[in-house]
Amino acid sequence: MNVRPPLGLKSPLRIPHKLLMGPGPSNSSPRILNALSQPILGHMHSELFDIMDEIKKGIQYVFQTNNQLTLAISASGHAGMEAVLCNLLEPHDVVLILINGIWGERAANLAERYGAIVRKLVKTALGSNFSIIEIENAVKIHQPKLLFVVQGESSTGIYQPIIGIGEITRRYNCLLVVDTVASLGAVPFLMDKWKVDAAYSGSQKIIGAPPGLAPISFNERALKTIANRKTPIPVYFWDITLLGQQWNCFERSAPRLYHHTTSATLLYGLREGLAVIADEGLEQVIKRHQHCAAQLYEGIEALGMQLYVDEEHKRLPSVTTIKVPDGVDWRKVTEYAMKRYKLEISGGLGPTAGKVFRVGIMGYNATQENIVFVLDVLKEALKHSVTSSKL
Ligand code: GLV
Repeated sequence: MNVRPPLGLKSPLRIPHKLLMGPGPSNSSPRILNALSQPILGHMHSELFDIMDEIKKGIQYVFQTNNQLTLAISASGHAGMEAVLCNLLEPHDVVLILINGIWGERAANLAERYGAIVRKLVKTALGSNFSIIEIENAVKIHQPKLLFVVQGESSTGIYQPIIGIGEITRRYNCLLVVDTVASLGAVPFLMDKWKVDAAYSGSQKIIGAPPGLAPISFNERALKTIANRKTPIPVYFWDITLLGQQWNCFERSAPRLYHHTTSATLLYGLREGLAVIADEGLEQVIKRHQHCAAQLYEGIEALGMQLYVDEEHKRLPSVTTIKVPDGVDWRKVTEYAMKRYKLEISGGLGPTAGKVFRVGIMGYNATQENIVFVLDVLKEALKHSVTSSKL
């Protein structure tokens, strides 16, 4: 054999401990880390099926839904977006996408790949969300089959209220899909009450499990749309009718289908992440995130910095965007925090690249002590990162 074993693989694996206060992933709690080191089970073992059933119930709890077709996709939150669009859209369907950051843009990109006709409602005003009137007007004009909304835009830190949108989509015979990747657990999400037809999230943010699983749920209306498709679901891996059989979502007596080999390890982590939320109580988890966010807003303003989203009720508690002050090199700030304190504070993404810092408040990391630490490090890092005398 000509290719030699790589030298790097001969040294032991060393992982530094970092405090992840960016937009995700967040740090997993010791309880979750312990779950990840449990023995591997086979993907068709009854013990793993029991864990999958518990996960399903946990996802129903965090989504506040009774939807039977509720499970976790084996891939990151992004795959949830892929899976809802792949299952619900067919070529030439009209889809309306609300865009106030990178994730709406990404959904538009994916929908085009599935052959849909994409209509966009774009928020050009910095740091703002959509009013119910704007949404209703757009639905009336475009008559889409599906309306796609991001509840928490991690790129801009904008919170989009969902309440009231479901009534509009029902009136216009349209499906409502909501991305809750960065928001679930930090703000309420009442899937059934708000008439959301399909939703997804990520395991690695407020749930605090490792990246790699995407909680997802479809209601009966969405399922009917899938059953009435004229074309096959184009990607086998995202086919929710098959995944639903693997997760025993349809008929209690039907045998579990082998669709793909799930990661037992990631499922343990997600199970424990959901269990931690169930133990604390969803309302309390949301309150904890909101308190930490309020503490951060106050501290940021005390440092003389400005929040990117002006009005507090439009801010996503789990991802705060902070304007980079004039005369400061944002990269130096984030590098300083990482090199000196192993603290992750992120820069902007997509439309906010170079303009903001992003501080994540997620799951196990959502504590008052961590907020104080972030503010202290930011203050120090800013002093070291001034590139002009404007500050
Ligand atoms: C990931 O979700 C990010 O916003 O960076």
